[in-house]
Amino acid sequence: MEYKLIINLKAYKESTLKNAIKIAKICKKLEKEAKKKNVEIILCPQLVDLKDTINENISVYSQHIDSYEYGAHTGHSVVSLISDLKAKGTLISHSENILSLKEIEKRIIIAKKNNLKTCVCARNAITAEKIAKLKPDFIAVEPKELIGGDISISTAKPQLISKSLKAVGKIPLLVGAGVKNGEDVRKSIELGAKGILVASGVAKAKNPEKAILELLSGF
Ligand code: G3P
Repeated sequence: MEYKLIINLKAYKESTLKNAIKIAKICKKLEKEAKKKNVEIILCPQLVDLKDTINENISVYSQHIDSYEYGAHTGHSVVSLISDLKAKGTLISHSENILSLKEIEKRIIIAKKNNLKTCVCARNAITAEKIAKLKPDFIAVEPKELIGGDISISTAKPQLISKSLKAVGKIPLLVGAGVKNGEDVRKSIELGAKGILVASGVAKAKNPEKAILELLSGF
């Protein structure tokens, strides 16, 4: 699929445990609609909800990985385990769980070894350029100050999208922060983004199905 719609469920009460499963079912229901627009919907739940959401037979990424495979690693997000659960990929270095370039590189290497796609987050174009050299599958640019708000990156910082596109070269660029409607998505795609990373617009929506459909309308 050419475009990605990654829905990060973070750790909101509205989008964890039984609510994560509800949203996973909605993603499954809207799969056909998304396919018509060449969009893959990817859900990104809390670690504790990974198994239940994968059981709904949808694409799922982990919110984070640690650079460990099976073994004595108490309390870590173990890559080989996440891969064997049949997650398709992982976010790396989200603004709320930020990592150094060295740590990002370790995670890209171990994720690839375990057949997980990698979407690394960056707060600006300079960081995006450094991350691009590590060759992740996707880079998602999100200005920290817009995360969780109602003003989208494509409205407040369209120039950041254009700059980041140049910075990442051939690596597909996703954008996020404050994305709430189809118009936010449309502007981002027009500027050259290959997808959207969204959280509160879906996770905290009264009607997540309507919210996802609205976002899909912008592709
Ligand atoms: O991971 C996506 C996220 O940080 C953006 O959050 O709530 O602004 O869509 P939100």
